[in-house]
Amino acid sequence: MTIALGVLASGRGSNFQAILDAIHQGTLDAIVKVVISNKADALVLERSRSHQIPGIFLDPKPFAQKENSREAYDQAVGQVLQEHRVDAVVLAGYMRIVTSVLIRQFPWKIFNIHPSLLPAFPGLHAQRQALEWGAKVSGCSVHFVTEGVDEGPVIIQEAVPILDHDTEESLSERILKREHEIFPKALQWFAEGRLSRDGRRVSLIHSV
Ligand code: GAR
Repeated sequence: MTIALGVLASGRGSNFQAILDAIHQGTLDAIVKVVISNKADALVLERSRSHQIPGIFLDPKPFAQKENSREAYDQAVGQVLQEHRVDAVVLAGYMRIVTSVLIRQFPWKIFNIHPSLLPAFPGLHAQRQALEWGAKVSGCSVHFVTEGVDEGPVIIQEAVPILDHDTEESLSERILKREHEIFPKALQWFAEGRLSRDGRRVSLIHSV
């Protein structure tokens, strides 16, 4: 089944680009309906518009005064996603915490990519955290989004070595290459209806 995706992103959007590339190459059966960013100048918006995909800047500022500002913002995000009739939501470098308002609208249909082997190094600057910890291996994880930050069940992970001379930049780059492989792959498994979940444990149903 072709899945209609909504992408939430805050930055340059290389993961978004990898998803588009996979769609164009025929390895991901999906269509990106809309890209939403909380940053006006995010490169991801330029990328989406250059592919004739609506790129919407949704400013968090007007929501900041409200009592439940995160929830109110997510309500607005959810509305845009519903208007574009998306089946699933992809967090591709989205630097905001997603609340239950959005999670309830798309149960088990929100996917995040994180640049570490979760549960190690959740939150911001995961690559820097791994270096500072002195870890010898890190990597990336695609997981279902639940209410705990970076706590949802893992779908796929890929490990990369941490080398003695690594900087945050060199490690991030090595991890990013793997991100670009595993994110479209996980989404394709979802599109094929091959993801099965038992509590926290996600397994891949093998096609016959
Ligand atoms: C990626 O490394 C992604 O894993 C990370 O932000 C980067 C976005 O790059 N996401 C997080 O840290 C989420 N907590 P991109 O904009 O080029 O896809």
